[in-house]
Amino acid sequence: MFKHLLTVSDIDRGDLNRIFQLAGKLKRERGKEDFRPLAGKNIGMIFAKSSTRTRVSFEVGINELGGHSLYLDQNKMQVERGETVADTARVLSRYLHGIVIRTYEQANVEELAAHGSIPVINALTNEFHPCQILTDLFTIYEYSGTLDGVKLVFAGDGQSNMANSLIMATRLADLELVITSPETFKPSKEMLAGGDKVRWEPNSLKAVEDADYIYTDVWVSMGFEEQAAERLAQLTPYQVNTALLEAASPKTRVMHCLPAHRGEEITNEVMDSPQAIVFDQAENRLHVQKAILALLFAQESS
Ligand code: CP
Ligand code: NVA
Repeated sequence: MFKHLLTVSDIDRGDLNRIFQLAGKLKRERGKEDFRPLAGKNIGMIFAKSSTRTRVSFEVGINELGGHSLYLDQNKMQVERGETVADTARVLSRYLHGIVIRTYEQANVEELAAHGSIPVINALTNEFHPCQILTDLFTIYEYSGTLDGVKLVFAGDGQSNMANSLIMATRLADLELVITSPETFKPSKEMLAGGDKVRWEPNSLKAVEDADYIYTDVWVSMGFEEQAAERLAQLTPYQVNTALLEAASPKTRVMHCLPAHRGEEITNEVMDSPQAIVFDQAENRLHVQKAILALLFAQESS
């Protein structure tokens, strides 16, 4: 069982199955269940970047599980004035029972977990977004009834936190992942080596043939704003639009972690089409993160 959730690699197939079972139950029984595994627990939520879904779904989820959340703006913490991440971890471990953190460098999240004595959940770094991708696997499972044999195509920034986390997720199921991007945004060799059944295909129309799911994300991730012009110019041919959907199949479903930049990586037409399941993904963040929290804290208290 996992002690932290720093990347998708902290989860094995057994954990994924437990998360799916519990998330499904919590979703079905929301509002009816009396399940409070976080009673008496205080969870710190350190955010250095903007958030709508992650912040709200964690705060609501912690509350529904009987816990209490504290929102901490990283920019107002002493770590921004020179206190080390390690000392911050030691101090916070004396007050809190767990930390959810959204920041820039993955290395800082790893350091927080290494020097603290409480569970740490990565709520997005430049490199990874495990909560999102575990939720997306759950959403695919809901729609397809399995992950095995599913073909998923990620179109856009193949070096993003989403693409990296999707590659890691191929170790958890027999799904086929195709990343379609320009050469400049191709996943690194090291990243590709960490996945199973992953390939890169520069031709997006070819990539989406027989796809069960097409996934996209913003072209300019948080922290990369100064590269905006160059990214938009290079990634425009990878837009998820009607032509791309026509090259796939009428049954292909479209996924996006959101926020969407309509008119850039995805058109209004596709976002608003019945093939898009993006708001189900957003809803499932709540159920899957509640399951992750409950499983982490069930072992803490056992
Ligand atoms: N998908 C996601 O993490 O959204 P937020 O940036 O709104 O949290
Ligand atoms: N890749 C995006 C995801 C936002 C949820 C970013 O990091 O900004």
